[in-house]
Amino acid sequence: MNKLGVRGFARNFVAKRRKYIDFLLIFREFLIDYRRYLTHGVPEHNMELRLSPKFLEMQTIMDIHSVEKGLSLRETRHPFGAEVIGRLTTELANAPSDFYWKKDLEDSKKALMLWNEEKLKSEQVVVQMKRNPEDVKHPGPSILETRHSVRSFDCDLPVPDEILIEAVRVAYFAPSVCNRQAWNVIFAKADETKNSLLALQNGNSGFSGIPVVGVITVDISLFTGAGERNQPWIDGGIFAMSLSVALHGMGLGSCLLNTSVRNNYSDKIREIADIPDGHLIISMMAIGFSDVEYMKAKSSRRDVKDVLKFL
Ligand SMILES: Cc1cc2nc3c(=O)[nH]c(=O)nc-3n(C[C@H](O)[C@H](O)[C@H](O)COP(=O)(O)O)c2cc1C
Repeated sequence: MNKLGVRGFARNFVAKRRKYIDFLLIFREFLIDYRRYLTHGVPEHNMELRLSPKFLEMQTIMDIHSVEKGLSLRETRHPFGAEVIGRLTTELANAPSDFYWKKDLEDSKKALMLWNEEKLKSEQVVVQMKRNPEDVKHPGPSILETRHSVRSFDCDLPVPDEILIEAVRVAYFAPSVCNRQAWNVIFAKADETKNSLLALQNGNSGFSGIPVVGVITVDISLFTGAGERNQPWIDGGIFAMSLSVALHGMGLGSCLLNTSVRNNYSDKIREIADIPDGHLIISMMAIGFSDVEYMKAKSSRRDVKDVLKFL
């Protein structure tokens, strides 16, 4: 105190206090996220909880995927999948008649047996593809280059539900870990809901005429164990991008709206959009037809040389 003087002490105290506040806030958020993942994610070692319907669906998707993936490889092991075929059999036996994955389950079980018994690959689960050799010399333009964030929308041009549904169907072609597809989308079109959601997001001021606000969420109950704790965020980010590219491909504009917020904010979003506790909120998105004329930000990109290395 003597050495620092009163002012120095005060400055030191304020600087440290800020550091401790940051520490406590981040720690608090970690605890809330930890509780959510622990409650809704599937534990790796608790066999009882691994029998939940959600987990069984996840296991089914992963088993179907392991057959399809195995058969898509150039050097498929022969035979393979001794454990998988046992699980597929049980999954099929237990599947209700209207189980969404039933046909894929049957196809993958038959395909695995066909491979193991006759070394033939079933076209029900793998598709022969052919690359155009010319593509190496003349790569085509990418749709990614023409997408950009749109912030000025034509509020007089409503977006038909069929277009939004089709965009989600297309976005579902996004890759996900073991084909988990844990994504959910909410589209808010009613003014009151839209405005309440936008009021909780701090990057949309000055946007004009947003016809639809999307909210992308990921269901944690399709992920398991400590290793996958961050996977929902990764899969969710990939899907968010897919949705924006799908919308762009269909002539709509969009802008992702940063929803990296503290849990007290996301709880309010949960309440408005009726999002279950077991879903992570990945991002909101402004969606609509752009104004006929509008400005887009230049948004220069980094020089590829600075971010890329070949080993
Ligand atoms: C997760 C995420 C959140 C974003 N949030 C906002 C936002 O809140 N407001 C906004 O105007 N733009 C937002 N953007 C758009 C970025 O600013 C934009 O993608 C970036 O500047 C590149 O420009 P472009 O999308 O036109 O290529 C967001 C983008 C991402 C990926």
